[in-house]
Amino acid sequence: MWIGVVSLFPDMFDALTQQGVVGRAVEKQRIALEFWNPRDYATDRHRSVDDRPYGGGPGMLMKVDTLRAAIFAARERAQQATGLVPTVIYLSPQGRKLDQQGVQALASAGPLVVVAGRYEGIDERVVESDIDEEWSIGDYVLSGGELPAMVLIDAAARLIPGVLGHQDSAVEDSFNDGLLDCPHYTRPEIIDGRQVPDVLLSGNHAAIKRWRLKQSLGRTWQRRPDLLEGRPLDAEQRKLLNE
Ligand code: ADE
Repeated sequence: MWIGVVSLFPDMFDALTQQGVVGRAVEKQRIALEFWNPRDYATDRHRSVDDRPYGGGPGMLMKVDTLRAAIFAARERAQQATGLVPTVIYLSPQGRKLDQQGVQALASAGPLVVVAGRYEGIDERVVESDIDEEWSIGDYVLSGGELPAMVLIDAAARLIPGVLGHQDSAVEDSFNDGLLDCPHYTRPEIIDGRQVPDVLLSGNHAAIKRWRLKQSLGRTWQRRPDLLEGRPLDAEQRKLLNE
């Protein structure tokens, strides 16, 4: 998967790319991440990358010419590297709320150019002409689009074949079947008098699978009933919930 990132703070992405699952995926070349910094396209003495909003008010916007130059360069490189036209994503609280379904769509959409905004955001005409999709990671405001971009890239990377060591791990993630994850246990067998559920020690794989599904269903029903709305349970799931 090819991902270009447009950001004024590309070093922030070291946290994502220098360790862990995404770090290994980059190393194994399952993911190619490239960066474009609007500041590199600044031509004035101060190398400015912000500009005042029309109509006044507090805060600045990203300067249009440097931002567009970076987006255009990333888009061109995406085509050169992959032969495909990338989807250009802008992260903002005004975007469509990201969920696992959205992540799945983005992970299989072909190359992505992810634009991380700073300041109060970007000119609406840039959104209209240069951005294909606007996504939010939740109803709260962060100081920039870098963390949301990393959230998106991390979540998408997990779905790329060969990125996770054990291929089943993504399949068994929370949300991949639309349900919350079941509880997990490791050693020791007893912590402060609390035992690991017997079934997990039974070696009965069918029973373990049923127990986990039942836990997932029960947790989802208790904690996030919204996830079950409009999602009819199949016969086995209904039976499990009623057991
Ligand atoms: N930029 C600032 N806050 C954001 C959010 N919640 N989601 C996506 N991008 C953002």
